[in-house]
Amino acid sequence: MFNLQKLVRPNVLKMKPYSSARDEFKGTAHVFVDANENNLGSLAGDNYNRYPDPHQKQLKEVIAGIKGVRPSQIFLGNGSDEAIDLLFRMVCRPGMDSMLHLPPTYGMYEVSANLNEVRLESVQLTTAFQVPVEEVLAQVKPETKLIFICSPNNPTGNSIEAHRIETILRGFDGLVVLDEAYIDFSDTPSWTTRLEEFPNLVVLQTFSKAWGLAGLRLGMAFASEEIIALLDKIKPPYNINQATQEMALRALEQTEQLQYMVEEIVQEREMLAHALPTLEAVEKVYPSDANFLLVKVKDAIGLYTHLLDQGIVVRNRSSLPGCEGCLRISVGTTEENQQLFQAIAAFSK
Ligand SMILES: Cc1ncc(COP(=O)(O)O)c(C=O)c1O
Repeated sequence: MFNLQKLVRPNVLKMKPYSSARDEFKGTAHVFVDANENNLGSLAGDNYNRYPDPHQKQLKEVIAGIKGVRPSQIFLGNGSDEAIDLLFRMVCRPGMDSMLHLPPTYGMYEVSANLNEVRLESVQLTTAFQVPVEEVLAQVKPETKLIFICSPNNPTGNSIEAHRIETILRGFDGLVVLDEAYIDFSDTPSWTTRLEEFPNLVVLQTFSKAWGLAGLRLGMAFASEEIIALLDKIKPPYNINQATQEMALRALEQTEQLQYMVEEIVQEREMLAHALPTLEAVEKVYPSDANFLLVKVKDAIGLYTHLLDQGIVVRNRSSLPGCEGCLRISVGTTEENQQLFQAIAAFSK
């Protein structure tokens, strides 16, 4: 049985969170001399001399409306990478607990585990890049607190079948962190719609991919109110800066344009997915629900170096077990994709 109080580190349950100046004062006032800010102003523009809202109230309300969840079910992080790190710190006791991930997958789960001195359990994805459910559940130990599943998965691009995720959610008493960084490029529905069913589900999304805001650093975690309250308790108080909150609000007014961009990227992805296998250098393009393609080539290092010589940088994933001979290529603009195609064609000759 899932029991959040038992799962969370005792020091996290016990500790008192930092109380900011703006937490302690509620009401209206016109002179703010409570936070040691510079009241003369800022050199960058209005408002930036003031600390931002530590609870990101306005931003969460808008996101809640778009995602169909309550604001209390949303945590905002300095990128989803911050949410990943805080999840470790919330439930994993350094030197004692473990987490399970499914390589080949996003590298930060392992980095965060190592940073937090959390043992890593690895279960390789199947040859079809699916989660081997029985193997995962057999590998779970009493000290396993987190399972990370990435869907659509980076770097393979495919979505994990829903029935597999559901079996893990039902069979595991720790937190299942479902990383949906690339969900906007996929036709499969987000698991945010199923939060009420699974008290151990945490869904991660980000503004870095479809929203085109990687430079702002804004990630989202969706979960039960209880889990979100704990993440909020342990986060740095002002983790989302004022500029990010303002810019994100501006972007969120333009959901229609987001749709256009996503459609264009998906169209370009499908064009590349059809065109690349016609080239001699390319062995196979894996199906993708994301904004990148995993491409198996005959000579990964040779092609990688050739593309670099042409000023084109792709990600060499050929040394990752399960991705031998593979490059990961993000979908670019139409012109960039044409340049890429021509450069690979030239290598084939
Ligand atoms: C699967 C996955 N999760 C999370 C992230 C990081 O997202 P953010 O920019 O929000 O930290 C990435 C970035 O590449 C990713 O591929």
